[in-house]
Amino acid sequence: MTDAEPARPPLGEALRRRLAAGAEPDGFLPFDRFMEIALYDPEVGYYARPRPPFGGAGDFYTAPRVSPLFAAALAEPVRSEAARLGPDGSVHLVDWGPGDGTLIAGILSALADGGAGPGIFEVDLVERAAPLARAAVARAEPPARRLGATVVRAETLSALGPIRGIVIANELFDAQPVRRARRTADGWEELGARLDGERLVAAAEPLRRPVGGLPLPSAAELGSVFEWSPAIDGLLREAGDHLVAGRLVVLDYGLEEAELLAGHPLGTLQTIRAHREGEDPFLRPGETDLSTFVNLTRLRQAASRAGLRLRADRPQREALGDWGFPALLEAARRRCGSAEEEVRLHLAAKNLLFGFERFRVLEFEAGDPAAATSPAAPSPPVGPAPPRAP
Ligand SMILES: C[S@@+](CC[C@H](N)C(=O)[O-])C[C@H]1O[C@@H](n2cnc3c(N)ncnc32)[C@H](O)[C@@H]1O
Repeated sequence: MTDAEPARPPLGEALRRRLAAGAEPDGFLPFDRFMEIALYDPEVGYYARPRPPFGGAGDFYTAPRVSPLFAAALAEPVRSEAARLGPDGSVHLVDWGPGDGTLIAGILSALADGGAGPGIFEVDLVERAAPLARAAVARAEPPARRLGATVVRAETLSALGPIRGIVIANELFDAQPVRRARRTADGWEELGARLDGERLVAAAEPLRRPVGGLPLPSAAELGSVFEWSPAIDGLLREAGDHLVAGRLVVLDYGLEEAELLAGHPLGTLQTIRAHREGEDPFLRPGETDLSTFVNLTRLRQAASRAGLRLRADRPQREALGDWGFPALLEAARRRCGSAEEEVRLHLAAKNLLFGFERFRVLEFEAGDPAAATSPAAPSPPVGPAPPRAP
């Protein structure tokens, strides 16, 4: 340890036990297994803690917390897809990774405020972290009742069985465990960690496990770090298997593989704790959020392998515009009771439109066209923050 490094707090017995159990027989803990435990272990994981990760009292903001206009805009593609699929009221609305339910509650409220029922009979909250799932159910139930829809909680998408409907995934994929590898003169070495007494320290091993999916990029330069996520491939396979008609709407931040290789030679792993970025991921596992940029090139390819068809792919700012954001903003402005409220509204709108600059919206359609009700599937109506906003 150098003088510049902060003192490493001991890990705590439960966490140390879980990390040791995830390690290889020689003690090496590959990064994806570390990330899985650090974020999602039901006992010691970051998302399992009672303290909420989102908002001022948490660690970071996601778009639904910046302004309710985000959820109100997303209600538009939900409304149009529900009308297309199930005017008879047979549509699932799924929030995949809903966190504390702020987004889904906002979408449901906007749908209910808009009058005429959009055919949704069931709202499914697919959330693996138990405390967040409870919060999401509590937030979603009142507006769901107004629509006459039931709220169901599930831990996986597969548990819902066949889905006809709309699946929304806002910042789900950036939070998936990634493998990390560094290019060496002989090939690649896998990055991860090792337990050193009561502490966890960075480590590297020759790449031993199969890469899975696509090969690692041959264009990577010596010493550069590449991240890829078998977990994302698995989630897309699940979506391809279970979405029989309708859409998967992915909203997330990411870059193309070539951009990642050229612009992020050390990878994109980001840590945030108490709205501060950049802490060593191994310093306080379970207390720090971990995320990476989504590799959009691999995401599209994995979706295509899973039988999902890409229908739209655009920057989030553009998608919000297409979903009627300017009209929603104007309506909200008219409801403002004071000049201060109006300024706040405009600042939030500016943040949504220009702060989430690396965010894209990718809409995929279920692969089996025969299962859809309408042969002419219309597109949805055209009507500075870092990726995770600290
Ligand atoms: C970054 S948060 C985003 C929360 C919310 N969508 C929002 O925009 O505020 C990611 C959420 O996805 C959940 N999550 C991660 N992997 C999941 C999985 N495989 N299945 C269900 N939920 C998952 C996490 O527990 C967390 O609540």
